[in-house]
Order: sequence, then C-alpha cells, then structure tokens
Amino acid sequence: MLKSEVARNYPFLRPAFSRRGFVTFKFAEGVKPDEGFSLEAVFARTWGFCFGRVPASDWQVAANEVWAKVANIPVGWIHVWPRDTSPPGRSEPEKPWPAEISQIQQVLMEHAPTKAIPPNVSQESTPCPPGVWVLDCVVVEPTEWWIGIHRAGSLESRYPGGRFPIVLPEYAVSRAYLKIEEALRWSGFKIPANARWAELGSAPGGASQALLDRGYEVLGVDPAEMHPLVLSHPKFTHLRRRTPQAPRRAFRKVRWLAADINAAPNYTLDAVESIVTYPQVNIRGMILTLKLPNWQLAENIPEYMERIRSWGYNIVKARHLWNNRQEVCVAALMKPFRRKPSHS
Ligand SMILES: C[S@@+](CC[C@H](N)C(=O)[O-])C[C@H]1O[C@@H](n2cnc3c(N)ncnc32)[C@H](O)[C@@H]1O
Repeated sequence: MLKSEVARNYPFLRPAFSRRGFVTFKFAEGVKPDEGFSLEAVFARTWGFCFGRVPASDWQVAANEVWAKVANIPVGWIHVWPRDTSPPGRSEPEKPWPAEISQIQQVLMEHAPTKAIPPNVSQESTPCPPGVWVLDCVVVEPTEWWIGIHRAGSLESRYPGGRFPIVLPEYAVSRAYLKIEEALRWSGFKIPANARWAELGSAPGGASQALLDRGYEVLGVDPAEMHPLVLSHPKFTHLRRRTPQAPRRAFRKVRWLAADINAAPNYTLDAVESIVTYPQVNIRGMILTLKLPNWQLAENIPEYMERIRSWGYNIVKARHLWNNRQEVCVAALMKPFRRKPSHS
C-alpha cells in the first residue's frame, strides 16, 4: 500500500530495500530532494532520510559506525525502534518494545560524539523537542540496523516510530479509546475544553469515554446499546438511532464530529455529509474512521479526502494509525471556522 501510494505521489522515488514494516526508496537518477522535502503518506507512520545499513553483531562496533555515518549532522536526539512485523492492520501499539531496544539506545548514547543528547530520557514516552535532528535507528533484525535522520516536526515525528505512548485505562469499554486518543493527538487540532462532540457509531463507547475524559460533551448516535458506564456519564447523551434516522436538530449545538461506523467508506461519508451540509448544523472539525472492507479501497483515499474538502474543510489529512485495523483515520478541519448564515 505504501509503495503504490509513493509511486502515485512521488514519481521520482524508486522502491529500494524493504522488509515488512520497513521500506526504503531511492531518488531517481539526477533528482535531488528540495531542502524542505517532506514525505506525506497515509501508510508511513514515520519517515527520514536513510543513511544505509549497519551490521550489528557487535553493538560497540556498530555504534561507532552509526555515528560515522551521520558525522555531519548536528544530532540532538536518538530514536530506536524495531520494524513492525505485524501484518497490515494488526499492529500492537501497546506492546512494549523488546528490552534490546532501550539497550541499543543506551549503547548509541554512550558512543555519541556529542553531549547535545540528554541522557536518561525514556525515548518511548518523552517527545523530543521540535526542530531537533533525530538519529533514527531502525532495528530491522537484531543484527541489522538501518540508520536515518529526520527533523522533529509534527507530534508523531517526536516519538520513535511515530508511536504515541497511550495507555488503555482499565475502565475503558473498548479499544476505540486508544484509536480516538491517537487520532486527536495526531490531528494537532486545538479543540476548546468545553467542546461538544457527536459520535456516529458510538457503541459500546470507548471513544466516547476518551472524549469525556478530556472534558468534552458527547452525543452518541448508535442503534446499539451503550455500556452503562458511558450511559451514566453526566456529559453523555445517547441517540439510539441509525444516523439517517437521527433528527438533524440534535446536532445544532455540536461543533465536532467523530464517526466510527462499521460500514463501507461511502456509507460513512454519506452519513457525515448529510449532517455537515445541513443548513442549521455547523461542524468545525471531524475525526472519521473509514473502514476498508478490502485493502484495494485504499486507492480511493484521495477521492474520499476530496469529497470531504468539497464540504468546506480546507485541512484534510489521512493516516493509518497505529491503532487502526483494516481502516484509516481522516482528520478534517475548517479553518477559519465559518458558521452557515442563519435564516431565522
Ligand atoms: C466499530 S463499532 C463503534 C465502536 C465505538 N466507536 C466505541 O468507541 O466503542 C461500530 C458501530 O457502528 C454502529 N453503526 C452501524 N451503522 C450505523 C449507523 N448508520 N449509524 C450509527 N451507528 C451505526 C454499530 O451499531 C456499531 O456499534
């Protein structure tokens, strides 16, 4: 999926070495990347400029070789992570990485020629400062590291492997808690503390819980039963209907919309469109899960995003989140936010 996405959007990149969960590309002959080159790809969790492979049967020797490769870069942080060997859509984002990962980070730190890297930080849970150059060490095999660099920018690029340290609370009633929490962090949207949300496809209620935990109000739209823990929350309201049967007036005060309906993308998009284009409804931002009943549908993601833009959302981005199964997440924002004219 990543390869066909890159072939479509970056015709000057050629596939090079790859393994499941780790892909490299080469610039076509004669092509030099612009200074601000940035790879935007739904199926890339993180990316960097590759400096090649380092054999690592002896970590001390390997660490010296790593630093020799990036000698000209003012590295200020180190990210080490293993390639994700899970089949597509089956990642296990909460599983801690093997102990050797932090050991490798330690060895790299000890051999660093610079004092710029703060010691004793947990690289998995501490985001690096924005703007620093990060040394990327991807453990493709325990004895084979691949080295790269990237400049920290977006929040996900400040964590190794683009993976946010999100813990599923014990009381969470579904794993959708993790999914929406990851989506909200990745979106970077500044959502006011007292935001009013509606979620289409809210049962049993993990995602609603995450929104409630952030202090938001939630209108859950779902014909299925909500978990009692969610239902009893003072800021939660259940509209026990399918979206097409939900009265539009219920959305009048809602400004943020989430959707996690188990149906094909065009069904979800029809349901969302019927709400956001309704005259008295003003939705500022959205977090949508688009299920892909088959992976072939990934080819249509640009089309889905275009459809969302046509409703007036000028910031639209898509990502296959760490917590996504056979689905992708689309975040959309209208900035600046303009209410529809009222004709009361
Ligand atoms: C993946 S589950 C949602 C999980 C939920 N977001 C959570 O946090 O636990 C999909 C839900 O979509 C609901 N659904 C299916 N068609 C729907 C529709 N037309 N309108 C609203 N909900 C719908 C199903 O009843 C089901 O509960």
